[in-house]
Amino acid sequence: MKTEILQPSPAAYEHCAKLIRSGEIVAFPTETVYGLGASAYDEEAVGKIYAAKGRPSDNPLIVHVCDEKQIDEVAFINDFARVVMARFMPGPMTMILPKKDIVPYRVSGGLETVGIRMPDNDVALSFIRFCGVPICAPSANVSGRPSPTTAKHVFDDLAGKIPAILDGGACRVGVESTIIDLTRPVPRLLRAGGMPLETLEAKLGKIEVVDTLNSKVALCPGMKYKHYSPKAEVYLVAAGGDQEERIRRKYNESGNKTAVICLDDMAAKIGGPDVLRAGKDSEEYAHNLFALLRRCDELGYDTVVAQGVTEEGYGRSVVNRLTKASGGKII
Ligand code: TXA
Ligand code: MG
Repeated sequence: MKTEILQPSPAAYEHCAKLIRSGEIVAFPTETVYGLGASAYDEEAVGKIYAAKGRPSDNPLIVHVCDEKQIDEVAFINDFARVVMARFMPGPMTMILPKKDIVPYRVSGGLETVGIRMPDNDVALSFIRFCGVPICAPSANVSGRPSPTTAKHVFDDLAGKIPAILDGGACRVGVESTIIDLTRPVPRLLRAGGMPLETLEAKLGKIEVVDTLNSKVALCPGMKYKHYSPKAEVYLVAAGGDQEERIRRKYNESGNKTAVICLDDMAAKIGGPDVLRAGKDSEEYAHNLFALLRRCDELGYDTVVAQGVTEEGYGRSVVNRLTKASGGKII
């Protein structure tokens, strides 16, 4: 199959909507990462998503909507959801709510709940509007690889497996949405992401945080699986104390195909051609992380030493993704 990369235009949206209506899958940009979409009501098309990604089929998909009417169509809206819809949608977050019957179990991974997200991205919203149905989509990477933040990343992973990619340029946020379970008396964080927890708590009240990385139970099915891995071995150098020394030591002992990913001020101290700058703060780090991990593979590095940051604001998602990418190799 030939994979077309399309620049956004009414004709391109109509073309992609036709593909969706005929049971095909299409990759599209959002403000977080690129998604691989199908009609949320077309089980056969949903099956094509799992096949193209090589994704385990018990891992549910997020349903992407362009307006509140579509939310009402797929889920039972409660008081927490009303706050989220008023304050945070569109935006880089996903709410888990009880699903309505119209959502196939193929989409919810057999669960009675559904993840819902309204992307803060004009191309995504136009695409969904042209399709006329909610669009279920995981990140548009091959399962286990870093999530794609450009159309080229999607092409690198899925060329020949999907008919079209809508090209919306580089994703503004660069890390996946924050997922909150709103089906409980106290909302619970399922995945740190593009919306800082502190911002959500300011409007929703206390949000329960479980140590998902070390917990034996998977709160959301996706947690069971290995994630975000470049081909290189990743080592996470935890924040604090003698962090600079620990980065230098690992860099020096790891041979000459080792890259260092770190914030700009640390990059200035370490120096050298293998140092890849992640930005000035955790927000920029979150934005750049997946692209940098892919870049390390392209440049042929076999080891990556990545600087950890404090787990607040955007730092929470940076540490979460790096912990997974490293498979727990923390220094
Ligand atoms: O930013 C994002 O969320 C991107 C863009 C494309 O929207 N999507 C994304 O999808 O990251 P995916 O499939 O790569 O990750 C979705 C996660 C998975 O870990 C899945 O297990 C979890 O959300 N999830 C989906 N529906 C769920 C549900 N009903 N209950 C619990 N977890 C759910
Ligand atoms: Mg994913």
